[in-house]
Amino acid sequence: MNIHSEKILILDFGSQTTQLIARRIREQKVYCEIHPFHTDLAKIKELKASGLILSGGPRSVYDEGAPKCDPGVFELGIPVLGICYGAQLMVQEMGGKVEKASKREFGKSVLDITFTDGLFSGLGSTSGECQVWMSHGDRIEQLPKEFIVSATSEHSPYAAIRHQSKALVGVQFHPEVAHTLIGTDILRNFLFKICNCSPTWTMGSFIDTTVEAIQQKVGSDQVICALSGGVDSAVTAALIHRAIGDQLTCIYVNNGLMRTGETATLLKFFAETTHLKVIDVDAVDYFLDELQGVIDPEIKRKKIGYGFIKIFEEEAKKLGNVKYLAQGTLYPDVIESVALDGGTVIKSHHNVGGLPEIMKLDLIEPLRELFKDEVRLLGLELGLPEEAVFRQPFPGPGLGIRIMGEVSRERLDILRQADVIVLEEMKRSGWYRKVWQSFAVLLPIQTVGVMGDERTYENVIALRCVDSLDAMTADWSKLPYELIGRISNRIINEVHGVNRVVFDVSSKPPSTIEWE
Ligand code: XMP
Repeated sequence: MNIHSEKILILDFGSQTTQLIARRIREQKVYCEIHPFHTDLAKIKELKASGLILSGGPRSVYDEGAPKCDPGVFELGIPVLGICYGAQLMVQEMGGKVEKASKREFGKSVLDITFTDGLFSGLGSTSGECQVWMSHGDRIEQLPKEFIVSATSEHSPYAAIRHQSKALVGVQFHPEVAHTLIGTDILRNFLFKICNCSPTWTMGSFIDTTVEAIQQKVGSDQVICALSGGVDSAVTAALIHRAIGDQLTCIYVNNGLMRTGETATLLKFFAETTHLKVIDVDAVDYFLDELQGVIDPEIKRKKIGYGFIKIFEEEAKKLGNVKYLAQGTLYPDVIESVALDGGTVIKSHHNVGGLPEIMKLDLIEPLRELFKDEVRLLGLELGLPEEAVFRQPFPGPGLGIRIMGEVSRERLDILRQADVIVLEEMKRSGWYRKVWQSFAVLLPIQTVGVMGDERTYENVIALRCVDSLDAMTADWSKLPYELIGRISNRIINEVHGVNRVVFDVSSKPPSTIEWE
C-alpha cells in the first residue's frame, strides 16, 4: 500500500542510528520509510519520495564489498542527503576521494559554517552554537566536480558539502543524535527548504489514509483479529473496526495465564464504547491441563503457542468465509536490518506467529509503519483508555513463563496476588510508566522463615523490573529502596504461601527480561 502522498526514503547502510533518523523526521510531521541500501532503482522511483537520505554505516566506502546503492539515485532529480557513510559514498560515486583519516573523529566537534543557506539556513557559525557529533574513521579528502564545501570542523575540511546545481548534500556528522545540537534544524532545513515537504503527517491523517486503504483492500470481505490484551492488537482492532465496522470479528482466548484484570479494561472498553464483535473463548481448563507436569520453559512456550493457534483456528473456522487476518506487527519488527554481505536479516520476534502460514489468510498489518510510542498516540487518538494504551508489554505465554517449574492453579493464584501488589505499588509511586516492565516471578524453591513464633517453609517471589528502549537490551531499574521495601512487605504479609522476596539485579544481556 503506497498510501502516503509525501514521504522521505531512508536507505539503510547498517548504522546504529538509522531508526533514529526516521524518528527525527516523523517528529517533524513528515512520513518516512527505511529501506535496505540495495533497493532497486525502479522500486525507489515507484515510491515517489520527496527526498532520499543515505544513512551512516560501519564500513569504509573503499572496502571490497562495501554496501552501495544504485548510483542512479543521484540522477533521479530528487534531493539526497548523505549522512557520514552516506556522504562518503555520494562523494566516491560522483568522482571524489575518501580516505582513512589520520585523526579519527569521535564525539563532540564544532562546525564552522561557511554557507548559511540550504541545510544551514538560519544557523550562524558562532562557536558553541553549532556543536555536532562525529563518529567516523574515514574522511572526505577530495570533492567531486561541482561539489563545494558548506562547513568545516577541526578535523574535517569537508564536514558538510553540497552540489552546486543539484539538490545533493552531505554531512560528515550525525544530525539525528541528540548531541548534535543543531541536528533538528539541519533535518528541518532538508525537509522543508530542500525537499519542500510540508509538516502534515499526524496521527489524525494517518487514521484517515489508513482507514481508506483498509476499506479499499477489504471490500466486503470478513476480517479476524486476535486480541491479546496488549496495546498493539487493541489498537489494530480499533483501527480496523473504524474502517470496516461489523466485517471485523476479534477472538480473545483466555488461556488462564493472564494477570488479574489484565484484559478486563480492554474487553469492557470494546463492549461499552464500540460495537466490536469479540468472541471470548474460555480455554482455561485446556491450557492448564496441557501444562500439567511441564517444567521445561521451551515445552511450556510451545504448548501455549500451539494451544492458542488450535483454538483460534477452530473459532475462525466456525465463522467461515474469512479472508483476512489482522495483526499488530510494528515497524521495528519489519525493518530489514542490513547484513553487510548485501543480504538482509529480519529480526525474529515472538508474536502469535505461525498463524498466517497455517491459516492461509491474507494479512492486514496497519501498524507496520509505526513505532511503539506512535501506536500509543494512535490508540489515544482512537479513543482507547489511557490504562490500556500505556500498559507495559506482556508476553504471549503470559504468567506461564513467570512461574518457574510446573504451572498449577495454586501457583498461578500466588503469583497473581503478588503481581497485583507489584502493579499497585508501581502505579501508586509513579514508577509504572517510568520503567519498561515490572512484574513478579514465582520461584520453584521454598525457604525458611519465621512468622509470629512459627517456623515457615514457603515460596520465594522475585521482583523483576527493567528499563529498556526496545527490549533488545535492558538494565534493572534503580527503584527507590523504600518502594522495593514496601512491595516486599506487602507481598510477604498479604500473600499466603510467600515468606521471602528478592530483587533481580541482572541486565540483558546476559540475562533476559523474562525468566523463561
Ligand atoms: P526477553 O525475555 O526475551 O523478552 O528478554 C523481551 C521482551 O519480549 C517479551 N516477551 C514476549 N512477548 N511473546 C510475546 O509477545 C513471547 O513469547 C514473549 N517472550 C518474551 C518480554 O516480556 C519482553 O518485553
